[in-house]
Amino acid sequence: MPITERPFEPFQKMTDEQDRVLIHSQRGVIEIMPAAPGVVRVRAGRRKQLPAYHSLALVEPQALAPAPAYRLEPGEKCVRLRQDGLVVQVEFEPLRLTVERAGAAAGESLTEIAFGLRGEFITARATIRPGEHVYGLGEKTGWLDKRGRRYRMCNTDVFLVNREGIGIATDPLYASFPFFVVHSQAGSYGVFVDNTEYTTFDFKRAGEPSGSYEIAAPARALVFYVLAGPSLPEVVRQYTELTGRMPLPALWTLGYHQCRWGYKSADDFRAVARELRARQLPADALWFDIDYMDGYRVFTWNRRRFPQPAGLTEDLKALGLKGVTIVDPGLKVDRDYSLYREGRRGGHFIRHPDGKEYNGNVWPGRSALPDFHRAETREWWAGHVRRWMDETGLGGLWTDMNEPAVTDLGGPIENVLHDGGRLPHPQARNTYALQMARATFAGLRAQAPDSRPFLLTRAAFSGAQTVTALWCGDNSPLWEHLAGSLPMLMSLGLSGMPFVGADIGGFAGDTHAELLARWFQAGAFYPFCRNHAEIGTNAHEPWAFGPEIEAICRRYLELRYRLLPYTYNLFREASLTGAPIMRPLAWHYPTDEATFNLSDQFLFGRDLLVAPVMAPGVTARAVYLPRGEWYRWEAGDGQPLSGPGHVLAEAPLAEMPLYVRGGAILPMWPVAAHTGAVARDELSIHLWPGRGELDYYDDDGISQAYTRGEYRLTPFRWRPAAGGQTLVWEPSTGAYRDGRARWRFVLHGLGQAKARYDDKPVRARREADTLVVEVPDDGGKHQIFVNGNTRFLHG
Ligand code: GLC
Repeated sequence: MPITERPFEPFQKMTDEQDRVLIHSQRGVIEIMPAAPGVVRVRAGRRKQLPAYHSLALVEPQALAPAPAYRLEPGEKCVRLRQDGLVVQVEFEPLRLTVERAGAAAGESLTEIAFGLRGEFITARATIRPGEHVYGLGEKTGWLDKRGRRYRMCNTDVFLVNREGIGIATDPLYASFPFFVVHSQAGSYGVFVDNTEYTTFDFKRAGEPSGSYEIAAPARALVFYVLAGPSLPEVVRQYTELTGRMPLPALWTLGYHQCRWGYKSADDFRAVARELRARQLPADALWFDIDYMDGYRVFTWNRRRFPQPAGLTEDLKALGLKGVTIVDPGLKVDRDYSLYREGRRGGHFIRHPDGKEYNGNVWPGRSALPDFHRAETREWWAGHVRRWMDETGLGGLWTDMNEPAVTDLGGPIENVLHDGGRLPHPQARNTYALQMARATFAGLRAQAPDSRPFLLTRAAFSGAQTVTALWCGDNSPLWEHLAGSLPMLMSLGLSGMPFVGADIGGFAGDTHAELLARWFQAGAFYPFCRNHAEIGTNAHEPWAFGPEIEAICRRYLELRYRLLPYTYNLFREASLTGAPIMRPLAWHYPTDEATFNLSDQFLFGRDLLVAPVMAPGVTARAVYLPRGEWYRWEAGDGQPLSGPGHVLAEAPLAEMPLYVRGGAILPMWPVAAHTGAVARDELSIHLWPGRGELDYYDDDGISQAYTRGEYRLTPFRWRPAAGGQTLVWEPSTGAYRDGRARWRFVLHGLGQAKARYDDKPVRARREADTLVVEVPDDGGKHQIFVNGNTRFLHG
């Protein structure tokens, strides 16, 4: 028998609690509470009284912030709640909320929401219009636009439930980000569902002309925030204001990471390090998968294969490579294993309802799982992280299997209790990895308070961006998985999680030459760039398929390293506003319909458009260029193409279509073997004709000194001017200096041109197809004007 939906009605009364409004109905209560300018929190509960509000996703100051003021305007059969940036109209019969942006014209609401009860679910059904698109939801399969699909939030190790692994429509995957954006030409609004339970997001009916979508939670109360935008960047800013932003990462974490399951001994690692250096492949980190452990016991080494781990990490460091070890939550049930003994003694494991320790099967066999929802357990774990980092000299950690991924031994995990017996598994599962990441981050912080912790996780929940990067788990060497990584990573970026990547080459299976080359081209523009492979598969390293493929990998890794100052600036922006690194075109071209579900190309920041080849045998592809002028990277003739429109881009195996926006300002360094070897005094600022801005940021890239003023910020403004272009830069702020005496500007697409510096002629040297102008860097305000035979200048 189908479970029928019951509405919340009939309405009984409304009460004003001064910081919130309560709507009581026969079946439950709905609470409306302004949360921030343009952000309202709504809770719908099935009892007369709502449970106390508690959030694991919100950053603390937000959770504690006083609610902003509002005004109630009573009507006949409704009431309007007016707050900063938003109006919520409540109609009583039928019970319905209409959310509008402040100042919206009549009939221009964002959405209308009705509530219901269906079995254990509390539901909210909201209207969606033709022309509206749905973005976000974190790590989900599908294209950019999630309309037409239904998704569930339940952190899942896909291979554990399906030996086939990830298919093109598999759901759920490892991580849960219950947040989405509804976008149209008219603007954007967001919805963040702050339920940790297995919520569902059903956009199947969103395709109908009078479409709707439904969010549902099997909970005592459904909790969601509506964020009024009005733009995509503004919605993501509002969402990350609530759930936090990633901290500024260490520069080395933006380099290339070499990993594989199956590097088994210190000798293997030394050999890989040697290859990377001998072949001049830029790289910053080598990763230790589970083989380094003693019988898969967490925080131990196999001393036979790794006789001197600290010596090994020292040697790697001397080659400019940091070590990162995997850390799984499953602790081997073994009385001779001190961590297990301690965990048992300290009550640090999750338990069955009868108090018996839960055990499941993972790599070490029978294992217990730390109770990361418990503060004492997080502290205990952080202490071990700290000790581990002290002993090993590693650069960072990698937390895996944290959905958690186990097969039950002696009772289903679904029934266990977390947080010392207080929290049922269905409420704790999705935040298990988040709490593990927080504990691990705290340990990293404590061990090296003046550095920037680096952590990578597989499973996650909203808020994880404040402590960890994320990779998309066990993909396969399939063209479909390369193609699918673009919308997945863009969606994560739109869900407040900018530091993300997918395993380059494909993890689960044998990869092949053409796919690896194409994957390196795209992966060089993943925010997190790591090559990884499953044990027993063929070699996936850049050199695995001979010199031709190796040269392609090198070329794109070199490009990644040259672009690091630009990339680092994007990460700084992410840390300040939540903006993704890898952006759908709609981020910058929000009214261009052609970008609304464009899933096979992306913007890397504002200025680079990346159009990878993601099918076999393809040597040309259609690329959509939005409004403006676009320069093909290294095209030579400096001739721009004008958007909006499609071009057919040549893409022989060695080349991925890549375009620079007219007006771009790209700070670049020369290629280096690793980020520690960068010749920072050889910074060049590359410019293409048009209009652009860059608040160029730099610091030591490794410590917390930037929080004490040791940074440098120089605002550049680059504008078309009569017969030429002007670059103006303001005085630098901050105390950091990179040792340069001069600014080096490299002007592209200008043909023959003359330059003036602060109104005096200055030498403009031709170098290949560019014009190079060098002037003193005295930290002051200056300007350069270029004119002459400016073939392509407009302005
Ligand atoms: C999981 C991880 C994978 C790792 C393997 C062994 O499958 O997703 O990246 O290599 O475990 O630790």
